Amino acid sequence: MTELKGALIGCGFFAVNQMHAWKDVDGAAIVAICDRDPERLKIVGDQFGIERRYSDAAALFADGGFDFVDIATTVQSHRGLVEMAAKHKIPAICQKPFAKSLGDAKAMVETCRNAGIPLMVHENFRWQTPIQAVKQALDSGAIGEPFWGRFSFRSGYDVFSGQPYLAEGERFIIEDLGIHTLDIARFILGDVTRLSARTKRVNPKIRGEDVATILLDHDNGATSIVDVSYATKSATEAFPETLVEIDGSQGTIRLSQGYRLEIHGPDGTTITDVSPKLLSWASRPWHNIQESVLAIQQHWTDRLRSGGETSTSGADNLKTFALVEAAYDSAATGRTVEIGALLR
Ligand SMILES: NC(=O)c1ccc[n+]([C@@H]2O[C@H](COP(=O)([O-])OP(=O)(O)OC[C@H]3O[C@@H](n4cnc5c(N)ncnc54)[C@H](O)[C@@H]3O)[C@@H](O)[C@H]2O)c1
Repeated sequence: MTELKGALIGCGFFAVNQMHAWKDVDGAAIVAICDRDPERLKIVGDQFGIERRYSDAAALFADGGFDFVDIATTVQSHRGLVEMAAKHKIPAICQKPFAKSLGDAKAMVETCRNAGIPLMVHENFRWQTPIQAVKQALDSGAIGEPFWGRFSFRSGYDVFSGQPYLAEGERFIIEDLGIHTLDIARFILGDVTRLSARTKRVNPKIRGEDVATILLDHDNGATSIVDVSYATKSATEAFPETLVEIDGSQGTIRLSQGYRLEIHGPDGTTITDVSPKLLSWASRPWHNIQESVLAIQQHWTDRLRSGGETSTSGADNLKTFALVEAAYDSAATGRTVEIGALLR
């Protein structure tokens, strides 16, 4: 089996995880990297032994010699780089947030569809071991039909030191973190019909909102709450765990802090430790996210070979992205927003 060759664009803070994970992926390897910042290009190139280095994405695509591109830049450049990939018929992975607006995201999906290339959004949170375990428990029928859920991420962790741009944007927690939590809600309870949201800024040193509470109606009739905060000072810091509660017709699922999964149903109660693996290159508390990066990149590689659509394809991610736009709209107007109208 010949190994797929990849190129990575954007050698910043998070790309280091992606580069480590590519080393562990079966069937793919990174052969070229690109960053307009020469310092980042050198650091990542030297660390991972990559000889082919570019400061300009257009030059990278012009030279070619790779089967897919992994776009790990921040959102401003996503549309231009995905369009460049489509022009060169190169399958593309794009980091979240997918685009600056839902209109841009729709255009990117359309461009890739017309070019006949796979497009996956690097929406890795649903690939976390504990989240997969919740999904499996629900799908097993252990708690019957779900009618209520809560997806909660509450932390006081200083994300701004590693990602200073997060303090500068007009939008913060829904666009950066809530986007993952909303995706988990969709993954577990299905697509969403309408939502309402409220936001707050507690930390005076940042521009955007750092607290959001979102009420979702799912297509299957279930109601859920997505609540996210970077202003929560707890006795035991939970970063970066997403806690989940699901109530079903026959029982309950509780994913609580410390990766403890409790499933209660007609057959009794089971408690399982669903901690992520600490990969050789990972470090706590990020190991949960780091393991999911490997899982999503392996999934991409397997699907690129088999030809099937990825779990978080561009088309799938429009439905998560629409929830982000709807949440900001609802928080600004106080109204409930219908999701179907946004996706038409
Ligand atoms: N999925 C996750 O769990 C997760 C976690 C953290 C960050 N992220 C996302 O990853 C993305 C990158 O975040 P980061 O914190 O690594 O940002 P960063 O600013 O540290 O890195 C981005 C890099 O891209 C380079 N770059 C930007 N535009 C470019 C262009 N047009 N051509 C070449 N290089 C370009 C910059 O020079 C920089 O080195 C963001 O969209 C962020 O939301 C995802």
